[in-house]
Parts: sequence; structure tokens; C-alpha cells
Amino acid sequence: MESTDALTAIFTRRSIRRFSPRPIDGHTQEILLRAAFAAPASENAQTRRFIVIAQRDRLDQLPALHPSAGPAREAPLAILLCCDTSASPQTVFWPQDCAAAAENLMLAARALGIGSLWCGIHPVEAREQAFMKAFGLPGMVRPAGLVLLGYPLQDFFEENRYDPHLVRSDTWTRAYETEY
Ligand SMILES: Cc1cc2nc3c(=O)[nH]c(=O)nc-3n(C[C@H](O)[C@H](O)[C@H](O)COP(=O)(O)O)c2cc1C
Repeated sequence: MESTDALTAIFTRRSIRRFSPRPIDGHTQEILLRAAFAAPASENAQTRRFIVIAQRDRLDQLPALHPSAGPAREAPLAILLCCDTSASPQTVFWPQDCAAAAENLMLAARALGIGSLWCGIHPVEAREQAFMKAFGLPGMVRPAGLVLLGYPLQDFFEENRYDPHLVRSDTWTRAYETEY
């Protein structure tokens, strides 16, 4: 399976909102999930849970649950990232744990030529409630975000957002200077 190198994937990952109907096969799905599981997590607590949404009727329901999920009508796959808070009751960092998993998932997708769109859920209460109801999540399982996935009908491209003026050296008041 061909993949781009890590830095190319990082710099050219873009939010994709147009997808081809080409399915994402099971082997590729597993790679994406493995990438998500490989993300760092607070105390290495394995609280993340994933719902792989591949049934057309389930994908078609997503736009009713999330204002940005319209592209799910085209996407062949979506993954709902959740946290089972009962697996580590003290956890306070679960949103970040899920965010790290989402980013890993999307970068792995980009490396494999697959586009993705992150649709934020937590901490918007109404969205959390809508996804909990639609997916039958028990009360201790919190939905963090939804990632739509599919082969893109848009190009990946690099967007330079680096701004050294937003970086400080050693303390807030000292500008960051670099010779590069
Ligand atoms: C926590 C989070 C929540 C997001 N939620 C949405 C969303 O609800 N709808 C959407 O269209 N994009 C969402 N995005 C994608 C951002 O809009 C997008 O990453 C940003 O505009 C930069 O574009 P890029 O992904 O192409 O670099 C979200 C991104 C993050 C990190």
C-alpha cells in the first residue's frame, strides 16, 4: 500500500468536503483505526472507543445530527470517536485524548490518499445528546467528535500558516528569532 511520508501528510492534510463513492476497504479501515489507537493518551488509559459507520442509511442520518455533516451523504465512511469515562473514572483529559486520536486518524488517512473532515461534537451539549441518542451510547460513553472519510474529489494542498510573530522565546515578552 502506497503512502506519503509523515511531513508531507502533515503539511498537505486539508479538510475535505467532497468525496468519491469509492469504498474504503477493511484493511485500510484497520490501518486508520490502528493509527487512532496509536495516539498518545493521558496516563495511557485506553478509554477511547470508536464506532465505524459504513452503512449508507446510517451515514445519510449524520447531517441531521451535525450541522457540518452534509458531506456524509457522499462519504463512504465515518468514525465516531468516543470516550468510555468508566474505563478511567478520574480522567479529565479525555477530550484531548480523543483529539489526538482524531488527528492521528486524519494524518494516516492523508498519507493513504484519503480525505477527512473533523466535525466537532464535545463540548456542544446539544450535539453530544443527539449522537448519544442516535448511536445508543450509555451515559458514561461521551462522543467527542465525528470524522468523515473518503477518497477526495478535491485536491490536497499545502497552506503555510507558520508565523514566527506568534512564537515567543523562553518567556512571553521575548520575540522568537531564528536565522532560518
Ligand atoms: C476540534 C475541531 C472541530 C471541528 N469542527 C468542525 C465542524 O464542526 N465543521 C467543519 O466543517 N469543520 C470542523 N473542523 C475543521 C476546521 O474547520 C478546519 O480544520 C480548519 O478550517 C482548517 O482547515 P484545514 O483542516 O483544511 O487545515 C473542526 C476542527 C477541529 C480541530
